[in-house]
Amino acid sequence: MNSFDAALRRAVTFPDGSHRPALGLGTWRYGEMPACRRLEVRALRAALDIGYRVFDTAEMYGDGGAEQVLGEALQASWRAGELAREDIFIITKVYPHNAGTRAMRKACEASLRRLGVEQVDLYLLHWRGDVPLDETIAAFGELVQRGCIARWGVSNFDVADMRELEALPGGRACAANQVYLSVSERGAEYELLPWQQARSMPLMAYSPIDQGALAGNEALARVAARHGATAAQVALAALFAMPGVMAIPKSANEQRLRENWAAAQLQLTNEDLADLDRAFPRPSGKKPLAMI
Ligand SMILES: NC(=O)c1ccc[n+]([C@@H]2O[C@H](COP(=O)([O-])OP(=O)(O)OC[C@H]3O[C@@H](n4cnc5c(N)ncnc54)[C@H](OP(=O)(O)O)[C@@H]3O)[C@@H](O)[C@H]2O)c1
Repeated sequence: MNSFDAALRRAVTFPDGSHRPALGLGTWRYGEMPACRRLEVRALRAALDIGYRVFDTAEMYGDGGAEQVLGEALQASWRAGELAREDIFIITKVYPHNAGTRAMRKACEASLRRLGVEQVDLYLLHWRGDVPLDETIAAFGELVQRGCIARWGVSNFDVADMRELEALPGGRACAANQVYLSVSERGAEYELLPWQQARSMPLMAYSPIDQGALAGNEALARVAARHGATAAQVALAALFAMPGVMAIPKSANEQRLRENWAAAQLQLTNEDLADLDRAFPRPSGKKPLAMI
């Protein structure tokens, strides 16, 4: 199996039965500086060329700039006939203060314009704010009806929030929850991940290499040395070993984009996983969900 097939074979299944690769690309810090735009579009086109098909962005990132840069790269690829819209899975997020019916409609339309698409594949509430959840569910439902979004989900929701959401009318339509999960930040493994696994609701692991810090971790480097891999690749492979987890590492560097992509080929052994458990103990009880 080549690395393209390997990465695409690691998949997560959504509640509607659709499958998507378990490796996506994060875009936080993209689109913040106009001077970097050309290089960022180039990095995103390289990502498409490498095989990335899932892209995570947000109206917050670069104040819409990340959506614009992503849109520019996708349009260029579609115009060149390299890929089609249906090959790509676009995730974007709405600010909590835009999570009411009218504000969400406007926010979503602005995201669609910046991305240059007619529909987003997954629209997430970035974190829980003051708008009542039932109003947010209704707003998401309206956008689904209008065809602006294919499905919706949440981010930074702990189990109690998920239970509350699920109990509301329409709440069971939630398709995903994106939270901080990495080998060093394992709190979500205790209760949230099993809860989501039981519902076939993917858990999207953000900051999976602790914003770059895990690339220099010695315990990961020791495991990596057995495989001729890097510490960052082991950090990602440890997440791929968990069913129902999608990791969305960010990189704007072609070499690291390739490195992270190749992590999907890395099969950790039981010995590797036991060593990681010793270096980064599994949670032994419930802790509040970590957030970045
Ligand atoms: N829902 C939320 O509240 C939330 C919160 C945080 C993040 N997110 C999403 O999750 C994505 C990923 O999280 P993140 O960006 O916070 O952190 P991350 O993916 O853990 O790390 C990204 C950082 O690590 C560097 N990096 C990437 N690959 C590397 C490698 N192989 N070796 C060494 N360094 C590497 C990147 O630099 P280079 O670009 O220079 O490679 C960047 O500085 C975000 O981009 C965003 O889409 C969501």
